[in-house]
Amino acid sequence: MGKGDTRPIGFFDSGVGGTSIWKEVRELLPNEHTIYLADSANAPYGSKGKERILELSHKNTQLLLKMNCKLIVVACNTATTNAIDELRTHYDIPFIGIEPAIKPAALKTQTNAIGILATEGTLSSSLFHKTSHLFASEIQVVEQVGHGLVPLIEKGQIQSAEMKTLLQQYLQPMLAAQIDHLVLGCSHYPYLIPVLRAMLPENVAIIDSGAAVARQTRAILEKESLLNNSETRGTQQFYTNGDPKVLQELLNADYAVENLDF
Ligand code: DGL
Repeated sequence: MGKGDTRPIGFFDSGVGGTSIWKEVRELLPNEHTIYLADSANAPYGSKGKERILELSHKNTQLLLKMNCKLIVVACNTATTNAIDELRTHYDIPFIGIEPAIKPAALKTQTNAIGILATEGTLSSSLFHKTSHLFASEIQVVEQVGHGLVPLIEKGQIQSAEMKTLLQQYLQPMLAAQIDHLVLGCSHYPYLIPVLRAMLPENVAIIDSGAAVARQTRAILEKESLLNNSETRGTQQFYTNGDPKVLQELLNADYAVENLDF
C-alpha cells in the first residue's frame, strides 16, 4: 500500500464550535492532515438569511480548495442545512455535513418527546423540516432556537451566569414536555454539555452528531480512495479571522492558531 492521498481534510464553521467535530475526526483518523477555518468575524451564521450563508460557505470552501483540501467537513449545522446541496453541485470534491441527530433520538425515546436546540437558520431550513418529518412525525419534538448562545461561546463565556439563565429558559418548555433526549443541533453546543448536564434530570440523554460525522468522513475517504495511509500523525492547522484566544483555549493550547484575513 502506498501513502494514499496525503492532502488535508478541510473544516469550516462560523467560529470555534466546529472544533467539537474536528476533535472526533482527529481521534478517528489521527494520521490525516487537517485545516480548520473559524469564520468568527462573521459569527453567528444562525441568524443570517440563506443567501448570506451560501455566500460565506462558498468563500470558506474556495479558501480550503486553494489550500489543496481533498474533502471538506462543513462543521456547522446552519451551513450544512442551508448550503451543502449547492456546494456539492458546484465543487468536485466530497462534502460531509452535520445535521441535528433527530433520527437516533426519535428511535430511542421512551417518553415520545425529544427536544432540539439549534440555530434559527437550521430550524427554519427545508432540510431540517424534511428530516424531522421523516423520522419524528410520530413523536413530540420541542424545537428551541438558541438565541444568544453562540455569541457567548465565541466570547468564551460558557460557564457565565448569562449562559445559565438563557439555558434555563430554553430547557423549561422541553422539561415541561418530559423530553428524554436533547439533541444538540449546533456544533458550538457540545461545549455546553457540562453546563447542560448539571441542569437536566439524569434520564435526559444529550445527543450530538460529532462521532457520526467522523465515521461518515472515514467511510467516504475509504470509498473514494482518499485515505492517507501514512503511519505518522497528521499535522493540524487552525486559522481564524477573529480573536484567536477562545479557539486556542478550546484546543487546550495543544495546537497553534493563526490569524488570517478571509
Ligand atoms: N456552529 C454553527 C452551527 O452548527 C453555527 C452557529 C452560528 O454561527 O449561529 O449551526
